Amino acid sequence: MNDTPIDDDALLDAAREATADAIVPYSGFRVGATLMTADGHLYTGANFEVSNYSNSLHAEEVALARALIDGARSFTAVAVASSEPSLVTPCGMCRQTLAEYCQPDLRVICKVGDDGARQFTLGELLPAAFNGDDLT
Ligand code: THU
Ligand code: ZN
Repeated sequence: MNDTPIDDDALLDAAREATADAIVPYSGFRVGATLMTADGHLYTGANFEVSNYSNSLHAEEVALARALIDGARSFTAVAVASSEPSLVTPCGMCRQTLAEYCQPDLRVICKVGDDGARQFTLGELLPAAFNGDDLT
């Protein structure tokens, strides 16, 4: 493991690079995401669209799936970038999915413009989240 701390710029850069993997024939809106584990592993994802739209895979879901397959279970941050200049944050569905596997203090770093970013916590983006406890 590399002992150099991974800064937010590196997470955002990896998310930006992951937008190149997106397959977006319908929206043209490329999204890349980087999920960081507690021990500093990075997992990237991009969005892959399906013609019925709703089956499309979101970048955050893909990054999470890759991490879970690898056995990762503890996450500290996710960075999200898109091909557009406006702020991009995880959609409501992705917030719920992230909340299943990440804590409310997960840092969510979102690209704005070419060099900017805004940071939230998952708890800020999805307050009073529905979770498995609500099923019992
Ligand atoms: N998209 C993501 O990949 N993540 C989000 O959380 C927001 C939306 C994708 C889905 C679709 O391919 C495109 O962005 C436009 O909605
Ligand atoms: Zn989403």
